[in-house]
Amino acid sequence: MSEESAGSRPAVQRVFPPGAGQVDLGAAYALPPPTTGSAVHVRANFVTGLDGATTIAGRSGPLSGPADRAVFSTLRSLCDVVLVGAGTVRQEGYGPARPSEARQSLRRGLGLAAIPPIAVVSRSLQLDLDSPFFTEARARPILFTTEVTPKERRMAASQRAEVVVAGARTVDPDQALAALAARGLTRVLCEGGPTLFGHLLAAARVDELCLSLSPTVAGPTSHHLVVPPARSGRWPVELELVHILTDGASLFLRYRRRGPQQEPGGTTRP
Ligand SMILES: NC(=O)c1ccc[n+]([C@@H]2O[C@H](COP(=O)([O-])OP(=O)(O)OC[C@H]3O[C@@H](n4cnc5c(N)ncnc54)[C@H](OP(=O)(O)O)[C@@H]3O)[C@@H](O)[C@H]2O)c1
Repeated sequence: MSEESAGSRPAVQRVFPPGAGQVDLGAAYALPPPTTGSAVHVRANFVTGLDGATTIAGRSGPLSGPADRAVFSTLRSLCDVVLVGAGTVRQEGYGPARPSEARQSLRRGLGLAAIPPIAVVSRSLQLDLDSPFFTEARARPILFTTEVTPKERRMAASQRAEVVVAGARTVDPDQALAALAARGLTRVLCEGGPTLFGHLLAAARVDELCLSLSPTVAGPTSHHLVVPPARSGRWPVELELVHILTDGASLFLRYRRRGPQQEPGGTTRP
């Protein structure tokens, strides 16, 4: 997944709730004001085909388009930290966050760091430590890993990133999110993949899902939206619809977890 190119602003219209005219994505995806204490807001972002596929030939890119990239970049503009699973980093060849100057200044205006750090969840820590993701990162990456991960691998990774042990055999979402909150990183954007999303859902730690629905049936594919953990989980997870946007081809759905929580929307865009 790549960020939108500078200057492109596809026309996105609102379907629900009804409203005329082009949508200001920054306002449509505005987060509740920062919470006090250590409360963390976790928003997940995916693009899928109509059959729930998250990949074509192993990548999400073929499901995406200009408007989806605009949503992706908007969501990155509104978070303290990006959280992603190691499978996605490896498959998608993740690079460091490189927001445009305009996006950086938008972030500063919202009281956010110009560039968000990217936190990766990995038991194995089998990541290319010499890749640009690590060597060119302007915000030091965070690696969440486990007690069973070999110590020498953790030591090697700590040369390139902040390594945080957040669980015994798997990374525990509660521990990882508490560690982010302790660093002042409370607005979390999870960019997948399906395994990490499954762990977050099972732990009831997903507050929002921003789902782009591409008008594509991907066919046989090894990845769908959620890979639930084998043994745990509080299912089903009920969500409620916040909005539906469209560019005339894809749908951009915003859901939030059912239950008492702050109203999204409002005032974060200056
Ligand atoms: N369409 C979309 O929007 C979208 C978004 C994201 C990803 N994707 C696609 O999804 C595919 C990857 O799927 P995936 O399910 O493998 O992705 P993933 O969740 O990003 O990666 C799975 C890996 O992350 C680590 N991990 C996740 N949760 C963990 C936990 N609780 N504790 C310890 N480690 C944990 C493990 O890494 P280790 O193996 O290193 O231990 C695990 O093998 C890619 O093809 C990517 O293109 C699509």
